[in-house]
Amino acid sequence: MKSVFKNSKIATQFTINEQVVLFHGDCLDLLEQIPDKSIQLVVTSPPYNIGKEYENRLKIEDYIEQQAEVIKECVRILTDKGSICWQIGNHVDNGVIIPLDTILYPIFKEMGLVMRNRIVWHFEHGLHCSKRFSGRYETIVWFTRKVKDYVFNLDPVRVPQKYPAKKYFKGPKAGQYSCNPLGKNPGDLWDIPNVKSNHIEKTEHPCQFPVELIERLVLAMTNENDWVLDPFLGVGTTVIAALKHNRRGVGAEILDRYAVIAKERVQKAINGTLKTRPMNKPKYDPQQAGNKLITPPWQYNTIVTSDDLKLFEKNEEYHIESS
Ligand SMILES: C[S@@+](CC[C@H](N)C(=O)[O-])C[C@H]1O[C@@H](n2cnc3c(N)ncnc32)[C@H](O)[C@@H]1O
Repeated sequence: MKSVFKNSKIATQFTINEQVVLFHGDCLDLLEQIPDKSIQLVVTSPPYNIGKEYENRLKIEDYIEQQAEVIKECVRILTDKGSICWQIGNHVDNGVIIPLDTILYPIFKEMGLVMRNRIVWHFEHGLHCSKRFSGRYETIVWFTRKVKDYVFNLDPVRVPQKYPAKKYFKGPKAGQYSCNPLGKNPGDLWDIPNVKSNHIEKTEHPCQFPVELIERLVLAMTNENDWVLDPFLGVGTTVIAALKHNRRGVGAEILDRYAVIAKERVQKAINGTLKTRPMNKPKYDPQQAGNKLITPPWQYNTIVTSDDLKLFEKNEEYHIESS
């Protein structure tokens, strides 16, 4: 990591002149240390109230109330041009799903924020459902204050064009390349691998998000030296994404074992030794990689049926069709 923060010390309490703060405790206790309008980006994945080891399952009304308390504080500390991104999935109760962004939306709205995007984060690994389709996306709902000049830097997050060689074929620009050479807008459907067993960033946390997911938000919604906050920090991903791009990072984690891992990972990020999956690296394609496991073993064998036998008798060539 090339970072102006490479010699940073990790502080445990927030003051505006720090560069990295890892608060071990309840996020509301961290939030009360932070002055009004001082954080440029709040990005988090809160507990989903589904009984994970790090949460007490609450009645949905109580969960909403608890989230509202945290969101209210996040709005208070948000700069005028700042952004809040809530990365969230479904609350599941007896096989019935409640998309959490839909029930949290009114809280953000009542607090005077407006939604700029509802980003769909698609990934391929997760629980296999037998009574409904397996869940393979979550959302990131992005809010700002009701202002025109919120920070949004598109160029640093552009992705390669599909047809970079395409040219205008008529008009005053005929013959010139029609696309932006810096790449295209990544859109609001993000196909980024989630952190499961083979992912280079995997720790023992069951729900960490990939650093590259947050890097895109950090680059687009902040400038160097700005503060990025995660009230539910887990193993430190948001702070790592911030530091990678010379932003200041602050987060709270309530559980000891995740706070310890967060500290280790953030220290490695500061030292430049933390391995993360590079942004925009193409997804692994088993077919392209020639992985043999993509052929079902039962297709290796000749299935002999009476029709097959007739073919043999006629001495005709026999092909097994691939599915
Ligand atoms: C969904 S996980 C976030 C994981 C994180 N995005 C990462 O990449 O590691 C939510 C985290 O919030 C923590 N948590 C729950 N309630 C909290 C609270 N009141 N204050 C601070 N952290 C809390 C949990 O222990 C858990 O690690």
